[in-house]
Amino acid sequence: MSNIYVIKKRINNFHNKIVRVSGDKSLSIRWVLLSSLAEGKSKSFNLLVSEDVKASIDAIRKLGIKVNLKKNFCEINGKGLDGYNYKTGIVINAKNSGTLGRLILGLLVNSKKKIKIIGDKSLSKRDFKRVTDPLKKFGAKFKLTNNKNLPLSIIGTNNLEPIKYYENRGSAQCKSSVIFAALRTEGSTFIKAKKSRNHTELLCKYLKLPISLSKKKNYDLIKIRKATKIKPFNYHIPSDISSAAFFIVLTCLKDNSSLTIKNVNINPSRIGIITILKKMGVKIMFKNKKLYKGELTSDIFVKGTKRLKAINCPVKLNSSSIDEFLLIFLVAAKANGVSFFKKLGELNQKESPRLKWGSKILTMMGVKNKLNNNSIKIYGNPKIYIQKKIVIKDYLKDHRIFMSSVIAALSYGGEWHIHDKNSINTSFPSFLKILNNLKNEI
Ligand code: S3P
Repeated sequence: MSNIYVIKKRINNFHNKIVRVSGDKSLSIRWVLLSSLAEGKSKSFNLLVSEDVKASIDAIRKLGIKVNLKKNFCEINGKGLDGYNYKTGIVINAKNSGTLGRLILGLLVNSKKKIKIIGDKSLSKRDFKRVTDPLKKFGAKFKLTNNKNLPLSIIGTNNLEPIKYYENRGSAQCKSSVIFAALRTEGSTFIKAKKSRNHTELLCKYLKLPISLSKKKNYDLIKIRKATKIKPFNYHIPSDISSAAFFIVLTCLKDNSSLTIKNVNINPSRIGIITILKKMGVKIMFKNKKLYKGELTSDIFVKGTKRLKAINCPVKLNSSSIDEFLLIFLVAAKANGVSFFKKLGELNQKESPRLKWGSKILTMMGVKNKLNNNSIKIYGNPKIYIQKKIVIKDYLKDHRIFMSSVIAALSYGGEWHIHDKNSINTSFPSFLKILNNLKNEI
């Protein structure tokens, strides 16, 4: 089957439709990693079964943990905090997943047998020094390719020293990796962290692990001590706001369309896109809000509009919408006026250099934009309608580029040939199926 997805027609308006998207990727990976250290069987429901999460399951299997992955649930038989059992020199393949590759290193700081971590072409281009630097201070030893990339090898130690760490990028992966290492370290580790998604902290709190949190205006202070035991825990993973975002944006670009996405994780550290779209004039409402094991969930209702306003996007929203900017740029393309997004250097550190790609795709669409270092100005056109052929390829198989391009094609027209359809398997394997069901219902 061809791996190129061709779209020649815009989607029709739709009204009061309901969709469910798959489980949250960040929570799924964290559940897999933490339950591998619990004492006994943990079960999850609605786990995202995507390449990134399957790579996480394979990783803990390599470490000697039994996993029973069934259609309706996943069960992990944790062997306790010191229960990993493996031969020296094993290779863990993090594939495309920065979250797995970085977080697992925190869990391995006390593993004295050498472990090699490898990844795919995209992950092998990404910066791992940002996480090995603080982990070295605990006492673990690393060998990296080119001093910053995968493949890398790690040898941990029993003599871990607690650290003081300032996480100044707003990277939840770096913060979480250090939290995991601190849970294995005698004494108190202190983290001052620029705001970023806080699922790891919330899960640790829910599991009653020795973590204390204090929220300041622009950063969080986190203190962690060594964990003595993790109890097994069941978890019903809510849907992923980053997957819901494709449908939210598709709806808001179709005048008068409306859609509800059920039971989405709306952790405040993840919903920057909602705040941004509301500022741009989109009607979005949360319905059936609930608190689930420390995480907020809700149905999200969205209604399309003809009148989108340009935005000068507050930098403080960057981290909570970091995975959604390609979509936000698509909305800016139709807004009335010039939108401005600043300090987005971290976007170029993702599965592909997404800020550059965002600009490139807009240019291909005929949308005027100016990329300047880490900022982008987008000159919106409320009457945008594409009539040419657009080919999207050679983008390091970045799943979010594929899916955002599909949304652009369905919203703005033109003939799109989008390569590497399989990339959706990284984070959202059911994306095209859900989209086609929606199309068939219209
Ligand atoms: C993630 C953190 C973010 C995000 C990624 C998932 C996580 O990365 O882009 O998709 O689950 O911790 P950074 O920590 O590099 O910003």
